[in-house]
Amino acid sequence: MTATATDTTVLDITGLRAGYGNIEVLHGVSVRVGAGEIVSLLGPNGAGKTTTLLACSGLVSVSGGDIRLRGTSLLRLSPHVIARKRLAHIPEDRSLFPSLTVDEHLRLSARPGGLNVLELFPELRKRRNNRAGVLSGGEQQMLALGRALAAHPEVLLVDEMSMGLAPVVVERLFDALREIAVSGGLAVLMVEQHIHLALKYARRGYVLSGGRVRAQGTAPDLLARWSDIESSYLGR
Ligand SMILES: Nc1ncnc2c1ncn2[C@@H]1O[C@H](COP(=O)(O)OP(=O)(O)O)[C@@H](O)[C@H]1O
Ligand SMILES: [Mg+2]
Repeated sequence: MTATATDTTVLDITGLRAGYGNIEVLHGVSVRVGAGEIVSLLGPNGAGKTTTLLACSGLVSVSGGDIRLRGTSLLRLSPHVIARKRLAHIPEDRSLFPSLTVDEHLRLSARPGGLNVLELFPELRKRRNNRAGVLSGGEQQMLALGRALAAHPEVLLVDEMSMGLAPVVVERLFDALREIAVSGGLAVLMVEQHIHLALKYARRGYVLSGGRVRAQGTAPDLLARWSDIESSYLGR
């Protein structure tokens, strides 16, 4: 599979340079995500995965390249304006409001065409009137994912969804995500440290290290090349 933009490209990151203050962290990153596909960003700690997602949401300074959502550049738009363009971002810390209830989170984010979250995650039904702060880690991540999907996004950025969760919960979340991506044509760019998990659910992946894309391909292709990729780029 080539990495060229096609009709179905929803998110198109090209030659992205970005960083913090004067320090450039991404040195020309290109990543493409099509409608209905889950794409994984892989790589060691400090590779620039989170920074790539933050740049899409307008939260770090971009010094070169471009980020296009269905052909329209997101550069120089404020995070607030980008969020209204149907780009949802679930950060690593989930960014829930501990004192707001499950229902309040869902009501605040609901947009026409958005998903019925309590149908997707019936587990949250009995928690509707509970504050987010008292939910288990798995319930919080369901709420974070549900809240993002209730807003009817076209692109979903997810940072380390599996972090700190039991494997059975992680499978539940990824199964739901895959179903929504396929049935709803959602473009998902997810950061995931666990390579086997990432490549089980993603159609394609990009391996970042030192702020550069070192390898890319379909999930089976990357899995087959993984020991080479590790020894060449990941220093293991
Ligand atoms: N707020 C920040 N200020 C300065 N440097 C940062 C900041 N956040 C991350 N970095 C640096 O940017 C690089 C990439 O970080 P990050 O994108 O978080 O990596 P990853 O998500 O792949 O672990 C690292 O060297 C990290 O130290
Ligand atoms: Mg990170």
